[in-house]
Amino acid sequence: MDAPEWMKQAEELRAKRPRHILFLCVANSARSQMAEGIARSLAPPEVRISSAGSAPSRVNPHSIAALKEIGIDISGHSSKGTDAIDSASVDAVITLCAEEVCPVFLGKATRLHWGLPDPAPHGTSVSASLDGFRAVRDELRKRLGFLFSGSWFEKADAIRDAVRDQYARVAESNSCGCGPSCCDSNEMSVTPAEALGYSVEQAGSVPEGSNMGLGCGNPQTIAKLKTGEVVLDLGSGGGFDSFLASRQVGASGHVIGVDMTPEMLTKARRNAALGGYHNVEFRLGEIENLPVANDTADVIISNCVINLSPDKPRVFAESFRVLKPGGRLAISDVVATAELPEEIRRDLALYTGCVAGASLISEIESMLSRAGFEQVRVTPKDESKSFIREWAPGKPVTDYVVSATIEAIKPRK
Ligand SMILES: C[S@@+](CC[C@H](N)C(=O)[O-])C[C@H]1O[C@@H](n2cnc3c(N)ncnc32)[C@H](O)[C@@H]1O
Repeated sequence: MDAPEWMKQAEELRAKRPRHILFLCVANSARSQMAEGIARSLAPPEVRISSAGSAPSRVNPHSIAALKEIGIDISGHSSKGTDAIDSASVDAVITLCAEEVCPVFLGKATRLHWGLPDPAPHGTSVSASLDGFRAVRDELRKRLGFLFSGSWFEKADAIRDAVRDQYARVAESNSCGCGPSCCDSNEMSVTPAEALGYSVEQAGSVPEGSNMGLGCGNPQTIAKLKTGEVVLDLGSGGGFDSFLASRQVGASGHVIGVDMTPEMLTKARRNAALGGYHNVEFRLGEIENLPVANDTADVIISNCVINLSPDKPRVFAESFRVLKPGGRLAISDVVATAELPEEIRRDLALYTGCVAGASLISEIESMLSRAGFEQVRVTPKDESKSFIREWAPGKPVTDYVVSATIEAIKPRK
Protein backbone atom coordinates (compact mmCIF):
# COMPACT_ATOMS: atom_id res chain seq x y z
CA MET A 1 0.00 0.00 0.00
CA ASP A 2 1.27 3.49 -0.85
CA ALA A 3 2.12 5.84 2.00
CA PRO A 4 -0.58 8.48 2.52
CA GLU A 5 -0.01 11.88 0.94
CA TRP A 6 0.57 13.62 4.29
CA MET A 7 3.37 11.17 5.06
CA LYS A 8 5.14 11.80 1.76
CA GLN A 9 4.83 15.56 2.31
CA ALA A 10 6.12 15.25 5.87
CA GLU A 11 9.10 13.26 4.67
CA GLU A 12 9.95 15.94 2.10
CA LEU A 13 9.58 18.68 4.67
CA ARG A 14 11.73 16.83 7.19
CA ALA A 15 14.51 16.57 4.60
CA LYS A 16 14.47 20.38 4.25
CA ARG A 17 15.10 20.86 8.00
CA PRO A 18 12.78 23.87 8.40
CA ARG A 19 13.75 26.39 11.09
CA HIS A 20 10.32 27.98 11.61
CA ILE A 21 7.07 26.10 11.04
CA LEU A 22 3.78 27.99 11.04
CA PHE A 23 0.38 26.26 11.44
CA LEU A 24 -2.53 28.11 9.91
CA CYS A 25 -6.27 27.83 10.26
CA VAL A 26 -9.17 30.27 10.36
CA ALA A 27 -9.86 31.05 14.02
CA ASN A 28 -6.52 29.87 15.50
CA SER A 29 -8.53 28.39 18.33
CA ALA A 30 -8.46 24.60 17.92
CA ARG A 31 -6.55 22.72 15.18
CA SER A 32 -3.66 25.16 14.73
CA GLN A 33 -3.39 25.77 18.49
CA MET A 34 -3.23 22.04 19.21
CA ALA A 35 -0.71 21.58 16.37
CA GLU A 36 1.48 24.33 17.86
CA GLY A 37 1.39 22.74 21.34
CA ILE A 38 2.12 19.22 20.09
CA ALA A 39 4.83 20.34 17.66
CA ARG A 40 6.61 22.30 20.39
CA SER A 41 6.71 19.20 22.55
CA LEU A 42 8.21 17.11 19.72
CA ALA A 43 10.38 19.41 17.61
CA PRO A 44 14.15 19.72 18.05
CA PRO A 45 14.89 22.78 20.18
CA GLU A 46 16.30 24.86 17.35
CA VAL A 47 13.02 24.73 15.40
CA ARG A 48 10.59 27.59 16.00
CA ILE A 49 6.91 26.74 16.02
CA SER A 50 4.00 29.20 15.73
CA SER A 51 0.36 29.28 14.76
CA ALA A 52 -2.07 31.91 13.51
CA GLY A 53 -5.44 32.38 11.82
CA SER A 54 -7.19 34.75 9.41
CA ALA A 55 -9.97 35.46 11.94
CA PRO A 56 -8.44 34.96 15.40
CA SER A 57 -10.92 34.47 18.24
CA ARG A 58 -9.79 32.72 21.43
CA VAL A 59 -8.22 29.42 22.30
CA ASN A 60 -11.02 26.87 22.58
CA PRO A 61 -11.12 25.46 26.15
CA HIS A 62 -11.61 21.95 24.69
CA SER A 63 -8.25 22.33 22.85
CA ILE A 64 -6.61 23.12 26.17
CA ALA A 65 -8.38 20.20 27.87
CA ALA A 66 -7.53 17.69 25.12
CA LEU A 67 -3.84 18.57 25.25
CA LYS A 68 -3.81 18.59 29.04
CA GLU A 69 -4.82 14.93 28.88
CA ILE A 70 -1.51 14.16 27.16
CA GLY A 71 0.60 16.37 29.41
CA ILE A 72 0.85 19.45 27.18
CA ASP A 73 -0.12 22.81 28.61
CA ILE A 74 -1.38 25.41 26.13
CA SER A 75 -3.39 27.38 28.67
CA GLY A 76 -0.99 30.32 28.20
CA HIS A 77 -1.50 30.43 24.41
CA SER A 78 -3.44 33.24 22.75
CA SER A 79 -5.17 33.30 19.39
CA LYS A 80 -3.22 35.37 16.85
CA GLY A 81 -3.75 36.86 13.42
CA THR A 82 -1.30 36.21 10.60
CA ASP A 83 -0.08 39.81 10.90
CA ALA A 84 1.42 38.92 14.31
CA ILE A 85 3.84 36.45 12.70
CA ASP A 86 7.39 37.32 11.65
CA SER A 87 6.66 35.96 8.17
CA ALA A 88 10.19 36.50 6.80
CA SER A 89 11.53 33.81 9.12
CA VAL A 90 8.82 31.22 8.31
CA ASP A 91 10.11 28.51 6.01
CA ALA A 92 7.29 25.97 6.30
CA VAL A 93 3.53 26.50 6.52
CA ILE A 94 1.05 23.75 7.31
CA THR A 95 -2.59 24.65 6.72
CA LEU A 96 -5.16 22.64 8.61
CA CYS A 97 -8.57 23.79 7.37
CA ALA A 98 -11.02 21.28 5.84
CA GLU A 99 -14.17 22.84 4.40
CA GLU A 100 -13.24 26.44 5.21
CA VAL A 101 -10.91 28.63 3.18
CA CYS A 102 -7.52 28.66 4.84
CA PRO A 103 -5.54 31.89 5.14
CA VAL A 104 -3.11 32.44 2.29
CA PHE A 105 0.53 32.76 3.25
CA LEU A 106 2.42 34.99 0.87
CA GLY A 107 5.99 34.18 1.93
CA LYS A 108 8.43 31.85 0.17
CA ALA A 109 7.82 29.01 2.62
CA THR A 110 7.22 25.37 1.70
CA ARG A 111 3.48 24.70 1.99
CA LEU A 112 1.71 21.57 3.18
CA HIS A 113 -2.04 21.12 3.48
CA TRP A 114 -3.39 18.75 6.10
CA GLY A 115 -7.15 19.24 5.95
CA LEU A 116 -8.51 18.11 9.30
CA PRO A 117 -12.18 18.40 10.35
CA ASP A 118 -13.10 21.33 12.57
CA PRO A 119 -13.69 19.82 16.04
CA ALA A 120 -15.80 22.86 16.97
CA PRO A 121 -18.10 23.51 14.03
CA HIS A 122 -19.54 27.05 14.01
CA GLY A 123 -16.81 28.10 16.40
CA THR A 124 -18.76 26.95 19.45
CA SER A 125 -17.20 25.17 22.36
CA VAL A 126 -20.39 24.38 24.22
CA SER A 127 -22.01 22.22 21.57
CA ALA A 128 -18.77 20.53 20.58
CA SER A 129 -17.76 17.39 22.38
CA LEU A 130 -14.27 16.77 23.68
CA ASP A 131 -14.16 13.60 21.57
CA GLY A 132 -13.85 15.61 18.35
CA PHE A 133 -10.87 17.47 19.82
CA ARG A 134 -9.30 14.21 20.98
CA ALA A 135 -9.60 12.78 17.47
CA VAL A 136 -7.90 15.82 15.90
CA ARG A 137 -5.27 15.81 18.65
CA ASP A 138 -4.44 12.16 18.02
CA GLU A 139 -4.24 12.66 14.27
CA LEU A 140 -1.93 15.64 14.76
CA ARG A 141 0.20 13.68 17.20
CA LYS A 142 0.58 10.89 14.67
CA ARG A 143 1.54 13.22 11.82
CA LEU A 144 3.81 15.48 13.84
CA GLY A 145 5.43 12.49 15.54
CA PHE A 146 6.30 11.23 12.08
CA LEU A 147 7.52 14.65 10.91
CA PHE A 148 9.90 15.04 13.85
CA SER A 149 11.08 11.44 13.97
CA GLY A 150 14.17 9.65 12.72
CA SER A 151 17.15 11.37 11.24
CA TRP A 152 16.17 14.79 12.50
CA PHE A 153 16.53 13.65 16.08
CA GLU A 154 19.82 11.96 15.39
CA LYS A 155 21.16 15.45 14.88
CA ALA A 156 20.96 16.00 18.64
CA ASP A 157 23.35 13.09 19.17
CA ALA A 158 25.71 14.41 16.50
CA ILE A 159 25.81 17.76 18.32
CA ARG A 160 26.46 16.09 21.67
CA ASP A 161 29.28 14.03 20.12
CA ALA A 162 30.92 17.18 18.69
CA VAL A 163 30.64 18.92 22.07
CA ARG A 164 32.08 15.90 23.88
CA ASP A 165 35.01 15.67 21.43
CA GLN A 166 35.78 19.36 21.84
CA TYR A 167 35.79 19.23 25.65
CA ALA A 168 37.80 16.01 25.69
CA ARG A 169 40.47 17.89 23.73
CA VAL A 170 40.17 20.85 26.09
CA ALA A 171 40.58 18.55 29.12
CA GLU A 172 43.65 16.92 27.67
CA SER A 173 45.33 20.03 26.29
CA ASN A 174 45.19 22.12 29.49
CA SER A 175 45.36 25.22 27.36
CA CYS A 176 42.00 25.93 25.82
CA GLY A 177 39.02 27.89 26.98
CA CYS A 178 35.61 28.70 25.60
CA GLY A 179 35.34 29.83 22.03
CA PRO A 180 35.61 27.97 18.78
CA SER A 181 39.16 28.55 17.63
CA CYS A 182 41.51 27.84 20.47
CA CYS A 183 41.92 24.10 20.30
CA ASP A 184 42.42 23.96 16.58
CA SER A 185 44.96 26.76 16.45
CA ASN A 186 46.61 26.28 19.83
CA GLU A 187 45.65 29.86 20.61
CA MET A 188 44.77 30.55 24.22
CA SER A 189 41.23 31.78 24.74
CA VAL A 190 40.99 31.29 28.46
CA THR A 191 38.81 33.84 30.23
CA PRO A 192 40.50 35.09 33.41
CA ALA A 193 38.50 34.21 36.53
CA GLU A 194 38.32 37.86 37.65
CA ALA A 195 36.65 38.85 34.36
CA LEU A 196 33.96 36.25 35.12
CA GLY A 197 33.28 37.72 38.57
CA TYR A 198 35.44 35.50 40.82
CA SER A 199 37.64 37.04 43.48
CA VAL A 200 41.38 36.49 43.42
CA GLU A 201 40.93 34.56 46.67
CA GLN A 202 38.32 32.24 45.09
CA ALA A 203 40.46 31.62 42.01
CA GLY A 204 43.46 30.77 44.16
CA SER A 205 41.61 28.52 46.58
CA VAL A 206 41.01 25.54 44.26
CA PRO A 207 43.42 22.83 43.10
CA GLU A 208 45.60 23.89 40.21
CA GLY A 209 44.05 22.93 36.88
CA SER A 210 40.44 22.98 38.04
CA ASN A 211 39.87 26.55 36.90
CA MET A 212 40.10 26.06 33.16
CA GLY A 213 38.71 29.45 32.12
CA LEU A 214 35.67 27.75 30.61
CA GLY A 215 32.91 29.65 32.39
CA CYS A 216 30.95 32.74 31.38
CA GLY A 217 30.11 34.10 34.84
CA ASN A 218 30.16 33.15 38.49
CA PRO A 219 27.08 31.22 39.61
CA GLN A 220 28.25 31.45 43.24
CA THR A 221 27.22 35.13 43.27
CA ILE A 222 23.55 34.22 42.93
CA ALA A 223 23.54 30.75 44.52
CA LYS A 224 23.69 32.03 48.14
CA LEU A 225 24.82 28.60 49.31
CA LYS A 226 24.32 27.65 52.95
CA THR A 227 26.01 25.16 55.22
CA GLY A 228 24.58 21.66 54.82
CA GLU A 229 23.02 22.16 51.38
CA VAL A 230 23.19 19.64 48.53
CA VAL A 231 24.46 21.24 45.33
CA LEU A 232 24.36 19.83 41.81
CA ASP A 233 26.79 21.30 39.24
CA LEU A 234 25.63 20.70 35.65
CA GLY A 235 28.60 20.30 33.29
CA SER A 236 31.18 20.46 36.07
CA GLY A 237 34.26 20.39 33.79
CA GLY A 238 37.48 20.44 35.83
CA GLY A 239 35.45 21.02 39.01
CA PHE A 240 36.10 24.74 39.65
CA ASP A 241 32.55 25.70 40.73
CA SER A 242 32.02 22.37 42.52
CA PHE A 243 35.09 23.00 44.68
CA LEU A 244 34.01 26.53 45.53
CA ALA A 245 30.54 25.20 46.41
CA SER A 246 32.10 22.49 48.56
CA ARG A 247 33.67 25.10 50.82
CA GLN A 248 30.38 26.99 51.10
CA VAL A 249 28.23 24.01 52.10
CA GLY A 250 30.86 22.57 54.45
CA ALA A 251 31.33 19.03 55.68
CA SER A 252 27.61 18.58 56.37
CA GLY A 253 26.77 19.50 52.78
CA HIS A 254 27.40 17.64 49.56
CA VAL A 255 28.27 18.55 45.96
CA ILE A 256 27.59 16.41 42.90
CA GLY A 257 29.21 17.40 39.61
CA VAL A 258 27.82 15.85 36.42
CA ASP A 259 29.65 15.91 33.10
CA MET A 260 29.32 13.78 29.96
CA THR A 261 33.01 14.00 28.94
CA PRO A 262 35.05 11.21 30.58
CA GLU A 263 38.30 13.18 30.20
CA MET A 264 36.78 16.06 32.20
CA LEU A 265 35.59 13.67 34.86
CA THR A 266 39.06 12.13 35.23
CA LYS A 267 40.51 15.59 35.60
CA ALA A 268 37.90 16.70 38.15
CA ARG A 269 38.33 13.53 40.24
CA ARG A 270 42.10 13.95 40.21
CA ASN A 271 41.67 17.56 41.32
CA ALA A 272 39.30 16.48 44.12
CA ALA A 273 41.86 13.97 45.38
CA LEU A 274 44.64 16.57 45.15
CA GLY A 275 42.63 19.11 47.13
CA GLY A 276 41.30 16.58 49.67
CA TYR A 277 37.62 17.33 48.94
CA HIS A 278 35.54 14.72 50.75
CA ASN A 279 32.09 16.20 50.19
CA VAL A 280 32.34 16.33 46.38
CA GLU A 281 31.69 13.55 43.88
CA PHE A 282 31.73 13.61 40.09
CA ARG A 283 29.30 11.51 38.06
CA LEU A 284 29.47 10.73 34.35
CA GLY A 285 26.22 11.61 32.62
CA GLU A 286 24.21 13.88 30.37
CA ILE A 287 22.40 16.84 31.80
CA GLU A 288 19.41 15.77 29.67
CA ASN A 289 19.33 12.44 31.58
CA LEU A 290 20.69 13.28 35.00
CA PRO A 291 22.16 10.39 37.01
CA VAL A 292 20.53 11.83 40.12
CA ALA A 293 17.43 10.76 42.10
CA ASN A 294 14.25 12.86 42.34
CA ASP A 295 14.16 15.66 44.94
CA THR A 296 17.90 15.49 45.73
CA ALA A 297 19.39 18.97 45.36
CA ASP A 298 18.78 22.21 47.23
CA VAL A 299 20.56 24.17 44.52
CA ILE A 300 21.57 23.56 40.92
CA ILE A 301 24.52 25.58 39.68
CA SER A 302 25.93 25.52 36.17
CA ASN A 303 28.45 27.61 34.28
CA CYS A 304 28.37 27.95 30.50
CA VAL A 305 26.91 24.52 29.77
CA ILE A 306 23.18 24.58 29.02
CA ASN A 307 23.75 26.58 25.82
CA LEU A 308 25.63 23.47 24.60
CA SER A 309 22.64 21.17 25.02
CA PRO A 310 20.64 20.26 21.91
CA ASP A 311 17.61 19.58 24.14
CA LYS A 312 17.24 22.43 26.62
CA PRO A 313 13.59 21.78 27.57
CA ARG A 314 14.71 18.36 28.73
CA VAL A 315 17.59 19.84 30.77
CA PHE A 316 15.12 22.08 32.58
CA ALA A 317 12.62 19.23 33.07
CA GLU A 318 15.39 17.07 34.54
CA SER A 319 16.56 19.94 36.75
CA PHE A 320 13.03 20.33 38.04
CA ARG A 321 12.83 16.62 38.78
CA VAL A 322 16.03 16.42 40.81
CA LEU A 323 15.55 19.64 42.79
CA LYS A 324 13.87 19.38 46.17
CA PRO A 325 10.59 21.32 46.46
CA GLY A 326 11.62 24.91 47.17
CA GLY A 327 15.02 24.24 45.51
CA ARG A 328 16.61 26.83 43.26
CA LEU A 329 18.51 27.27 40.01
CA ALA A 330 21.59 29.53 40.02
CA ILE A 331 23.05 29.40 36.52
CA SER A 332 25.47 31.43 34.43
CA ASP A 333 25.07 30.84 30.74
CA VAL A 334 25.28 32.38 27.31
CA VAL A 335 21.89 33.55 26.03
CA ALA A 336 20.72 35.17 22.79
CA THR A 337 19.49 38.75 22.81
CA ALA A 338 18.48 38.59 19.13
CA GLU A 339 17.65 35.80 16.70
CA LEU A 340 21.00 34.26 15.62
CA PRO A 341 21.67 34.55 11.89
CA GLU A 342 21.85 31.37 9.85
CA GLU A 343 25.65 31.49 9.38
CA ILE A 344 26.22 31.61 13.14
CA ARG A 345 23.58 29.00 13.99
CA ARG A 346 24.96 26.48 11.53
CA ASP A 347 28.61 26.91 12.57
CA LEU A 348 29.48 23.81 14.61
CA ALA A 349 32.68 25.38 15.98
CA LEU A 350 30.61 28.29 17.26
CA TYR A 351 28.19 25.76 18.74
CA THR A 352 30.84 23.88 20.68
CA GLY A 353 32.35 27.29 21.51
CA CYS A 354 29.27 28.28 23.55
CA VAL A 355 27.76 30.74 21.05
CA ALA A 356 25.57 29.12 18.38
CA GLY A 357 23.46 27.03 20.78
CA ALA A 358 22.31 30.03 22.82
CA SER A 359 18.54 30.37 23.16
CA LEU A 360 16.64 33.64 23.23
CA ILE A 361 15.95 34.98 26.72
CA SER A 362 12.20 34.76 26.08
CA GLU A 363 12.57 31.09 25.05
CA ILE A 364 14.55 30.29 28.20
CA GLU A 365 11.88 31.94 30.34
CA SER A 366 9.16 29.98 28.61
CA MET A 367 11.10 26.66 28.78
CA LEU A 368 11.60 27.16 32.53
CA SER A 369 7.95 28.04 33.12
CA ARG A 370 6.85 25.05 31.08
CA ALA A 371 9.11 22.81 33.19
CA GLY A 372 7.19 24.06 36.26
CA PHE A 373 9.61 26.68 37.65
CA GLU A 374 8.45 29.89 39.28
CA GLN A 375 10.13 33.25 39.97
CA VAL A 376 12.07 32.87 36.73
CA ARG A 377 14.64 35.63 36.23
CA VAL A 378 17.14 35.94 33.38
CA THR A 379 19.56 38.85 33.84
CA PRO A 380 21.84 39.67 30.90
CA LYS A 381 25.33 40.98 31.74
CA ASP A 382 26.40 43.47 29.11
CA GLU A 383 29.94 43.62 30.50
CA SER A 384 30.42 39.97 29.41
CA LYS A 385 30.66 41.12 25.79
CA SER A 386 34.29 42.11 26.42
CA PHE A 387 35.37 38.48 26.89
CA ILE A 388 32.80 36.84 24.59
CA ARG A 389 34.23 38.95 21.77
CA GLU A 390 37.58 37.20 22.34
CA TRP A 391 36.00 33.79 21.80
CA ALA A 392 35.34 34.47 18.10
CA PRO A 393 37.65 37.26 16.93
CA GLY A 394 36.37 39.06 13.85
CA LYS A 395 32.83 37.65 14.12
CA PRO A 396 29.99 39.88 15.31
CA VAL A 397 28.85 37.40 17.96
CA THR A 398 28.24 40.01 20.66
CA ASP A 399 25.49 41.53 18.50
CA TYR A 400 23.55 38.38 19.33
CA VAL A 401 24.76 36.75 22.55
CA VAL A 402 25.67 37.78 26.04
CA SER A 403 26.29 36.03 29.32
CA ALA A 404 23.38 36.05 31.78
CA THR A 405 22.41 34.73 35.16
CA ILE A 406 19.38 32.45 35.21
CA GLU A 407 17.44 32.02 38.43
CA ALA A 408 14.25 30.09 39.19
CA ILE A 409 12.54 28.24 42.03
CA LYS A 410 10.83 24.85 42.11
CA PRO A 411 7.58 25.53 43.98
CA ARG A 412 7.04 23.87 47.34
CA LYS A 413 3.54 22.85 46.13
C1 LIG B 1 32.22 25.30 28.68
S1 LIG B 1 32.58 23.93 29.66
C2 LIG B 1 32.22 24.53 31.29
C3 LIG B 1 32.86 23.70 32.38
C4 LIG B 1 32.65 24.24 33.79
N1 LIG B 1 31.28 24.47 34.11
C5 LIG B 1 33.46 25.49 34.02
O1 LIG B 1 32.88 26.56 34.16
O2 LIG B 1 34.68 25.37 34.06
C6 LIG B 1 31.23 22.85 29.33
C7 LIG B 1 31.27 21.53 30.07
O3 LIG B 1 29.97 20.96 29.98
C8 LIG B 1 30.07 19.60 29.58
N2 LIG B 1 28.84 19.32 28.81
C9 LIG B 1 28.44 19.90 27.66
N3 LIG B 1 27.24 19.42 27.26
C10 LIG B 1 26.88 18.51 28.20
C11 LIG B 1 25.75 17.65 28.35
N4 LIG B 1 24.76 17.65 27.44
N5 LIG B 1 25.70 16.84 29.42
C12 LIG B 1 26.71 16.84 30.33
N6 LIG B 1 27.82 17.60 30.25
C13 LIG B 1 27.90 18.45 29.19
C14 LIG B 1 31.34 19.51 28.77
O4 LIG B 1 31.88 18.21 28.79
C15 LIG B 1 32.23 20.52 29.50
O5 LIG B 1 32.95 19.92 30.54
